[in-house]
Amino acid sequence: MANKYQQRSQGGEGGGYGRNEPVPDPKRTAPKVDLLALPMDSARKEVENCLANHDNAIIMAETGSGKTTRTPIILLEANPDARIAVTQPRRVAAISVADYVAECQGERVGGKIGSQVRFDNETSKETRVIFMTDGILLAKLKADPLL
Ligand SMILES: Nc1ncnc2c1ncn2[C@@H]1O[C@H](COP(=O)(O)OP(=O)(O)O)[C@@H](O)[C@H]1O
Ligand SMILES: [Mg+2]
Repeated sequence: MANKYQQRSQGGEGGGYGRNEPVPDPKRTAPKVDLLALPMDSARKEVENCLANHDNAIIMAETGSGKTTRTPIILLEANPDARIAVTQPRRVAAISVADYVAECQGERVGGKIGSQVRFDNETSKETRVIFMTDGILLAKLKADPLL
């Protein structure tokens, strides 16, 4: 049987949790969703080495290999105090991927994992990974060029 995430992704933009629907209480969900291994999971060591030895890196891998959803968690586990921005071109993508990654971590959006799009900021001082639109990152850079 397809798992919840497969069902949600098949539903396209209409699927998944709406912003006003209750998100499952993390206390009642398992700490982590039983995730299928993705190619990015096997690249963990390489990503960690890149982080330790280079200021910039470009990761190239097929669509669906876990670049967007797994890399920020690998980076965060290597450096728990980091503040990590992940950009998406569209607001719906930023919001839904944040929901997904937060739930995979057994968390709610607005804790360690947040999202920020125009008119909707789901972050707090605990937030370490922020999924945001390209526009929000540009606005942040304008406000603080040394970001
Ligand atoms: N919003 C989402 N809802 C449900 N599943 C998702 C969502 N985003 C990603 N996934 C799952 O995670 C896998 C990896 O996605 P992703 O990290 O976005 O890949 P990439 O960035 O390499 O294209 C997808 O194949 C899909 O199964
Ligand atoms: Mg991606």
